[in-house]
Amino acid sequence: VAAQFATGQLAGRHVVITAGPTREAIDPVRYLSNHSSGKMGYALAEAAVEAGARVTLISGPTGLPTPERVTRIDVTSALEMLEASLAQAPQCDLFIGAAAVADYRPADYQPQKMKKGDEDTLQIALTKNPDIIAAVAQIENRPITIGFAAESEQLLEYARGKRERKGLDAIIANDISREGLGFNSDDNAVTLIDAERELALGPMSKTRLARALIAELSRYTR
Ligand code: CTP
Ligand code: CA
Repeated sequence: VAAQFATGQLAGRHVVITAGPTREAIDPVRYLSNHSSGKMGYALAEAAVEAGARVTLISGPTGLPTPERVTRIDVTSALEMLEASLAQAPQCDLFIGAAAVADYRPADYQPQKMKKGDEDTLQIALTKNPDIIAAVAQIENRPITIGFAAESEQLLEYARGKRERKGLDAIIANDISREGLGFNSDDNAVTLIDAERELALGPMSKTRLARALIAELSRYTR
């Protein structure tokens, strides 16, 4: 009922957001992952609800509470996140890939717990995971598709390249080398890059930044 009366920049629109890290299983007790907290994606989900959208959050393991009025789909691995994303993408207007998807997964999952060997070193072969946001950008009647670019150097150059390679409407460039900002922190500063312009936002709290980003993204139309 609330959605019927919702007013705001995203009223009547369905927004899907991926968030958090993925975990890539090595064996039943071990995995590869990263330090993503999921906070930016969750803050975007909250801001999209505030703007009147129906919001689906596809979340890796974060331990964060589900924001009010958000439908959450829990996933663990990149392959699970891809499947959930391709199921949701055709039914949404705006898709935001905020997840820190593991670029690789162990090539061979070991169904039994691995035993320590006699050697002092161990090599684990990895296989590249599919690119989720690029796959979403390629579906028929695709939603407005927005990615993030986490970079520790050459922020804007790398981010522009990623936007073009992945076929995204815009990319949110995130400088992870800045102390106390971005990855795993409560504050962030980003540059929103689309085909026409580059807009610097922040540093500010992820909550305020999410509102500013949603205000900008709600102006894109297909
Ligand atoms: N992404 C994705 N699927 C992957 C890897 C990344 O959907 N397998 C998405 C992220 O959610 C983000 C964007 O792609 O929206 C950029 O992620 P990033 O890690 O910055 O870029 P990569 O393309 O993985 O390149 P690299 O890590 O080498 O910089
Ligand atoms: Ca990556």
